[in-house]
Amino acid sequence: MAKKAIIIGASTGIGKALAEEMSQADYEVGLAARSLDKLEAISKNLPGKSSFIEMDVTRFDDAQKQLEKLIAQLGGMDIIVLNAGLTNNNKTFEWESEKYVIDVNITGFSAMLNFAYHYFQEQGSGHIVSISSVASLLPNPGSAVYNASKAFVSLYMEGIRLKLIHKNAPIHLTDIKPGFVLTPLTESRKDMFWVCGPELAARQILSAIEKKEKMVYVPKRWIVVAALIRMLPKRIIQFLLIRK
Ligand SMILES: NC(=O)c1ccc[n+]([C@@H]2O[C@H](COP(=O)([O-])OP(=O)(O)OC[C@H]3O[C@@H](n4cnc5c(N)ncnc54)[C@H](OP(=O)(O)O)[C@@H]3O)[C@@H](O)[C@H]2O)c1
Repeated sequence: MAKKAIIIGASTGIGKALAEEMSQADYEVGLAARSLDKLEAISKNLPGKSSFIEMDVTRFDDAQKQLEKLIAQLGGMDIIVLNAGLTNNNKTFEWESEKYVIDVNITGFSAMLNFAYHYFQEQGSGHIVSISSVASLLPNPGSAVYNASKAFVSLYMEGIRLKLIHKNAPIHLTDIKPGFVLTPLTESRKDMFWVCGPELAARQILSAIEKKEKMVYVPKRWIVVAALIRMLPKRIIQFLLIRK
């Protein structure tokens, strides 16, 4: 029987590419995001069975209800990909902008994760996939809240993994750390390197899901940057970040 995968944040970029990749690989996919028109167009063009629903993860309780509805439409859920996320360029450090990134990347993410955790516990199986970032490994004066939110995502996933080991529960967790991927989130940036398209990122994410990897860098070569970040003395990293 085809596996059922729900992608939160499936209307553009990595989420859209992953929906297409998974559908081609015979998964039944459920798509959620705010842009209903985009979801409908994506769903129409997918080769396999799919469902979609409008969802704003910052309306935390409502988003959980929408997730419940999407699961019912799809007839179940085996995998959830928590991909919805955004960044800011908050030079004046306005609270509203900081709060919105926290609402989407931290609280919205956690609300969806919490629902999926309990759903999979009850079902006795399931797979939670988070889309964190290489950004989780270092601070960022340009968008301090973005990197901090991704550090939250990865550390939260690690904590929940330990909780599940302790409970001996058959639920898998995969934390994905992409480097630079060309999507609406990054298209205006001029300072990127080793940029890949969302299709390559989606292929590697699906491979990591199928291998039930605990954590992967996407594309894989970003493991080199991660190793450098870990090896370099903190004061050198700070010097480089301040000079940027
Ligand atoms: N691109 C990169 O270089 C890169 C690198 C590392 C990590 N990432 C992470 O990868 C994920 C996907 O990013 P992307 O690059 O593919 O960007 P993107 O094209 O802008 O996609 C972001 C997705 O999140 C959804 N979203 C945003 N706010 C939402 C909300 N309040 N409620 C529900 N959905 C919401 C968007 O849909 P709607 O606007 O329709 O709601 C969209 O589907 C993000 O978590 C990002 O942090 C990206």
